[in-house]
Amino acid sequence: MPGTKHLLLILAVLCFFGKTQAQYIKGELNDINGRFVNAHGAGILFYNGIYYLFGEIKKGKTWLVPGQQWEDYRVPAGGVSCYSSSDLEHWKYLGIALAPSTGDSTKDLDTGRVIERPKVVYNYKTKKFVMWMHIDKKDYSYSQAGVAVSDKPEGPYQYIRSVRPNGQMARDMTVFKDSDGKAFLIYSSEDNNTMQVCLLSADYLSPTERYSRILVGRRREAPAMFKNGGKYYLITSSCTGWSPNAATYAVANGPMGPFREIGNPCQGPGAETTFDAQSTFVLPSKDEPDNYLFMADRWNKLDLPKSDYLWLPLTVDKGKVIIQQQTGD
Ligand code: DGJ
Repeated sequence: MPGTKHLLLILAVLCFFGKTQAQYIKGELNDINGRFVNAHGAGILFYNGIYYLFGEIKKGKTWLVPGQQWEDYRVPAGGVSCYSSSDLEHWKYLGIALAPSTGDSTKDLDTGRVIERPKVVYNYKTKKFVMWMHIDKKDYSYSQAGVAVSDKPEGPYQYIRSVRPNGQMARDMTVFKDSDGKAFLIYSSEDNNTMQVCLLSADYLSPTERYSRILVGRRREAPAMFKNGGKYYLITSSCTGWSPNAATYAVANGPMGPFREIGNPCQGPGAETTFDAQSTFVLPSKDEPDNYLFMADRWNKLDLPKSDYLWLPLTVDKGKVIIQQQTGD
């Protein structure tokens, strides 16, 4: 029979694993009111001990844009949602962080256009929350990076404008904030052939003239960047529309590269399709330096609002990135 000391230890171990495992998801994610979390192509901001989740609101009927050479399935762009949590498990809906507009299809935020992959960073100097996102026309020919700003993490965000950084196309994107406070926009460019990394201005509201071309000619999208042991890691997917493919990761000594491609971080059955998902963000653990949360979307191209999620542990072991499904998955 275990003594009280042993029972307490067993309880502590169970609580620890229960807590760390609970944030992992394969499928639907519901908020604390039991409603489906509508936050696709998401990212997380950790601010003042709270996690803020931002993502695309996908609502309405999915339709196929005629005359395209690829499966251009679209759904009305519903703006950007925000949820908060203190444990990455219980999510509270805080509302629409960035509202779309209706009635003028020439406007960036019109529901008939594309608002994808929103990412928020906090600027300690200006005390503003800055959101970057992919803004496009339904045929993806506009290829611009949109920026919005707010005084509060949950918004409402005020839309400023969209740009092509240094005249370069910008589609799938993310923002990475380094430990020195510099922030970088990372985006699929040059017709998705090459990625670029652009240093943002000190207020994070504009691209600067400093940018680099990375993964040249490799046709990568869905970027997610993180830092470990002084190195910069970039996970990306291949370009296959809404269908999943194999992720790869690359490593560099600085956020602007040059990046060296390593290989697929996913291990085990399903690794060749990123376990039927596409990367969107990597969140560092606040306690464990080599542990991260890998976040990905499981797109349902025929019914995009029914797309759900895959959140898995990501670890870095002596420079090697590993993403594995949980036992029993
Ligand atoms: C893949 C991208 O990663 C998504 O964000 C979205 O743009 C789809 N392509 C559109 O097909």
